[in-house]
Amino acid sequence: MRKQIVAGNWKMNNDLSQTGSLIDALKSKTQTSNAEVMVAPTFTNLYHAFEALKTVNIEVVAQNMHFAENGAYTGEISASMLKSVGIQTVILGHSERRAYFNETDELLAKKVDAALANNMRVIFCFGEELADRKSGNEETVVGNQIKNALFHLDASAFKNIVLAYEPVWAIGTGETASPEQAQDMHAFIRKTLSDKYGNEVANTVSILYGGSVKPANAQEIFSKPDVDGGLIGGAALNADDFFAIVNAF
Ligand code: 13P
Repeated sequence: MRKQIVAGNWKMNNDLSQTGSLIDALKSKTQTSNAEVMVAPTFTNLYHAFEALKTVNIEVVAQNMHFAENGAYTGEISASMLKSVGIQTVILGHSERRAYFNETDELLAKKVDAALANNMRVIFCFGEELADRKSGNEETVVGNQIKNALFHLDASAFKNIVLAYEPVWAIGTGETASPEQAQDMHAFIRKTLSDKYGNEVANTVSILYGGSVKPANAQEIFSKPDVDGGLIGGAALNADDFFAIVNAF
């Protein structure tokens, strides 16, 4: 049985006091689903969030990290630094990191290696742009993103990897992939994994969908057989909406 996961990516939103308010609101909610729940605040709020949420079933995860252990990388944060404030999971490869900070598949492969070497779990994001989908290249693009950053790994590494398919054209646009489009791509991703690593790996890796997931569409998307949860942006900034999505399973 694959893990169902709902993760809120708070992106570059919320200062310390706003983070505290959102955490208080999240703690007042009741979870009725079995999904694993995660939230990803900005670096400056990770320690506070970890301390504030350690008594409830909400894991605090990071939005990014550097591949080096330490050294002359001004402005960067390493895996061991994240772990020292309680963080066990990191989001890597988000399309905003790829687009605005030039993160390539090659760089991401190094980040994935560093996270796994530190016994961290990785939520690895990828997804095609609108032009790729319009030209019918979405599977080629997604397949290459996965192969280039992950296919140097051993099968055993995948117990610490969660995949997140986020079509760029659906992020923050209000335009969601249809549940069928999400299912088709998730089935393709699982087949790509199966071709390389076999069915056992393919059938145990959780694949999340991200891109304009809201309370109104979560249930239909999550009902698809290869969709194991969601990576939520805008709707994760509101505790009612986020928990409506968490409870949509
Ligand atoms: P939205 O839910 O705001 O479209 O963002 C999705 C996302 O990028 C999550 O990582």
